[in-house]
Amino acid sequence: MVYVTRRATFCAAHRLYNPQWSDERNEEIFGKCANPNGHGHNYVLEVTVAGVPDPETGYVMDLKRLAQLLEEEILSKVDHKHLNYDVDFLHGINPTVENLAIAFWRILEAKLPRGMLYAVRVYESENNYAEYRGEPVPVVGRNRLYAGVALEGS
Ligand code: NI
Repeated sequence: MVYVTRRATFCAAHRLYNPQWSDERNEEIFGKCANPNGHGHNYVLEVTVAGVPDPETGYVMDLKRLAQLLEEEILSKVDHKHLNYDVDFLHGINPTVENLAIAFWRILEAKLPRGMLYAVRVYESENNYAEYRGEPVPVVGRNRLYAGVALEGS
């Protein structure tokens, strides 16, 4: 297997918040990220695909195609947006880097050949990132952790 990674960047605002908690508790756990009007991050997204190089091209995957997929399915929807309010596929999800990695994985896995997606890594800062490799996790989903207090369906 050879592992090939495409890197992309986007800027977005978010608010980390659990409406079942007091404001004090939210601030204690989420710090600056619990700011009522949100705040911004310069995110980095790294997507790794795995496979055997094609004998004719030498590519595991044409990275132009992967770049285009990232642009169409993710970047065009999250760049310069408020992740809690502006992004359909994040409604009802507390937008931590962990949950973003899972949400992005689910989108990309459905668009790539079966078994090709290996890892999705999301950096919220230079020092903090989450990586998801598709193992089952119960935490993402509507009605689990709400992204905001007035979201659709919450
Ligand atoms: Ni934040």
